[in-house]
Amino acid sequence: MLSSLGATQRCFGAIVLLVLTLFLLASLQHMDVTVFLPLLRDQAEAPPITNVMFLKTHKTASSTVLNILFRFAETHNLSVALPAGSRLHLGYPWLFLARYVEGVKQGGTQPRFNVMCNHLRFNLPEVQKVMPNDTFYFSILRNPVFQLESSFIYYRDYVPAFRDAASLDTFLASPLTYYNRSRSLRNAHARNNMWFDLGFDSDAPAEESYVRARLAEVEQRFQLVLIAEHFDESMVLLRRRLRWQLDDIVSFRLNSRSQRSVTRLTPEGQERAKRWCALDWRLYQHFNRSFWAQVRAELSPRRLRSEVARLRARRRELTALCLQDSKPKDKQQITDRRLRPYQSGDADILGYNLRRGLDNQTLQVCQRMVTPELQYMAHLYALQFPEKPPKDISFLEE
Ligand SMILES: *[C@@H]1O[C@H](CO)[C@@H](O)[C@H](O)[C@H]1NC(C)=O
Ligand SMILES: *[C@@H]1O[C@H](CO)[C@@H](O)[C@H](O)[C@H]1NC(C)=O
Ligand SMILES: *[C@@H]1O[C@H](CO)[C@@H](O)[C@H](O)[C@H]1NC(C)=O
Ligand SMILES: *[C@@H]1O[C@H](CO)[C@@H](O)[C@H](O)[C@H]1NC(C)=O
Ligand SMILES: *[C@@H]1O[C@H](CO)[C@@H](O)[C@H](O)[C@H]1NC(C)=O
Repeated sequence: MLSSLGATQRCFGAIVLLVLTLFLLASLQHMDVTVFLPLLRDQAEAPPITNVMFLKTHKTASSTVLNILFRFAETHNLSVALPAGSRLHLGYPWLFLARYVEGVKQGGTQPRFNVMCNHLRFNLPEVQKVMPNDTFYFSILRNPVFQLESSFIYYRDYVPAFRDAASLDTFLASPLTYYNRSRSLRNAHARNNMWFDLGFDSDAPAEESYVRARLAEVEQRFQLVLIAEHFDESMVLLRRRLRWQLDDIVSFRLNSRSQRSVTRLTPEGQERAKRWCALDWRLYQHFNRSFWAQVRAELSPRRLRSEVARLRARRRELTALCLQDSKPKDKQQITDRRLRPYQSGDADILGYNLRRGLDNQTLQVCQRMVTPELQYMAHLYALQFPEKPPKDISFLEE
């Protein structure tokens, strides 16, 4: 009798404990990460990360990220690894070499830079010669179907493989009719462009062991790989990792195309694009998965939604403050020549008009946000190397 009562009590006790535990788990799931505030505060109080290497992949919204990095560098007086002499990028499409950077000499101790973000083809040992060893490496990827579609419009006149094809669907129906990598390195834009930007062989067969080994390499080197299709979530995660302020990572969309220059592949063409760019497809799938795994590990769904909402609200505020109206403008509509982006291929590349009558301080903030990449690069070059001849970007004014 006694022992049976004791067993009932123990059993009851165990049930209460179980229910309480379940409650606790359930509430934790819905709770903000604020429970761990002390932990987070430590992190937030650490100084912002200022040594950053961004691998700027092609046609992936990377110009917008570049603007964010240029602005941060300028406002924090950081040094940027800029293209040497009259060059406009860091040696692309050749593999990056340290001497492509202004100020780097042959032999002796090399200067180290805080920020590196201009177009280059990744080559780690050479990057390490000019970047400090505590550098934060990150990059951005886009669905290769849309990346290729954008590339086709943008590099229409520049890439031999694209020049003779009537449309991207035509090209994809028999790519080897048009594509021959040994004919020109420019053809790198026509196949597995992101794989190529990472420094790998974009014509390699997509064999499992080869692909896995390269993915592991990227994962080991790059602390973060952003996803263009989830740009705002990407910015939220980037800001947390770099411990930057909200305004540091708010941006307007730069270097976008007008609707007129956006075409859509047929569903069949899309499947062909995935097969033709199989390496990029694997790359994208892998890092899309790991991106979301990282987001989920760090932020509750509610916290993520609220941070994305905060970012969008601030972007709307700055849009109202800075811009004539929120619609991006084509070249003819941009009144200030210095704010006209470089035009290429069949694409209308868009930019912005600033509101008139801004006070000096606001004007400076707004101007930085809408300055196209080549003009911004030239501006930083002039600041950093006042003794050198300035970059010649007069072709932008034609
Ligand atoms: C920026 O840094 C340079 C050297 O890197 C220094 O000479 C200059 O005074 C700094 N300017 C400001 C505003 O901190
Ligand atoms: C990083 O570089 C600093 C000096 O530049 C050096 O003292 C340190 O040992 C290096 N750390 C590693 C892990 O290589
Ligand atoms: C590709 O181009 C190279 C160099 O121009 C040429 O030798 C080769 O025959 C071409 N291959 C094909 C399949 O056309
Ligand atoms: C990327 O990941 C998200 C979240 O898991 C998923 O919804 C989306 O379909 C993925 N995109 C592709 C192209 O696989
Ligand atoms: C604003 O800038 C203009 C021209 O750059 C200058 O003449 C003016 O004094 C500045 N005003 C203030 C309040 O700084």
